[in-house]
Amino acid sequence: MEIIIKPTVAEAQQETAKILRRQIQSKPDSVLGLATGSTPIAVYAELVAMHQRGELDFSRVATFNLDEYVGLPADHPCSYREFMREHLFSKVNIPPQNIHFPDGRATDVPTHCAEYETAIVRAGGIDLQLLGIGREGHIGFNEPSSSLASRTRIKTLTPQTIKDNAKCFGSPDKVPHHVITMGVGTIMDTRQCLLLATGEAKAEAVARMAEGPITADLPASILQMHPVCKLVVDEAAAAQLKRSEYYRWVYDNKPDWQRV
Ligand code: PGA
Repeated sequence: MEIIIKPTVAEAQQETAKILRRQIQSKPDSVLGLATGSTPIAVYAELVAMHQRGELDFSRVATFNLDEYVGLPADHPCSYREFMREHLFSKVNIPPQNIHFPDGRATDVPTHCAEYETAIVRAGGIDLQLLGIGREGHIGFNEPSSSLASRTRIKTLTPQTIKDNAKCFGSPDKVPHHVITMGVGTIMDTRQCLLLATGEAKAEAVARMAEGPITADLPASILQMHPVCKLVVDEAAAAQLKRSEYYRWVYDNKPDWQRV
């Protein structure tokens, strides 16, 4: 895992956006896996700014979002489809037919989940998967105890995740308890993972993920087994990493051609 520690949240967000820019510029028909939550909002704002400056063309990009709440209509203000429309899709030139989400209103959930997996394969697989991490170590909504080989399926959120995600809904009791999420195995099949974590609330999960044992108790720890995984953190989220000096050394010694 390549661990990139940036002094500030803004610099971590910018680095993440630059990695995505490089991906899209080097492969204009990239298939991106996208994440929601408060962490990537500024990354999407950067991508929009890059698009407006003429640096990024989304006309051949395809996207698959990680997850969606069960039971919410697509146009619900707290649905992840709406989140992505607001922060990215309405502001760049991505064709609507290239945008994919799990359907939170699917009536036959197992069939829908299998179809989502098939759609990813038909698109050629995900080139780059953007990820966040939950305080308890989820990626997507693969909460602790998720099978590390899991595929897209329905999951039950932990009370902590419900609390963390309550803002849009006004109160935790309005947050759906179920989601459809790509599985850990689905995420592991992507060609590259890019996880952004900022703030001290993520410091423990980040350290356990990067330096602790691989365990279903912290599903993000499986990323240690991913062949191409970048972790971008600010100082606060890096605070509990034991080998942070080495990670900085590696970054400072990176050859120019590897920089974004
Ligand atoms: P956050 O969520 O960006 O809102 O902290 C991250 C996640 O749950 O993966």
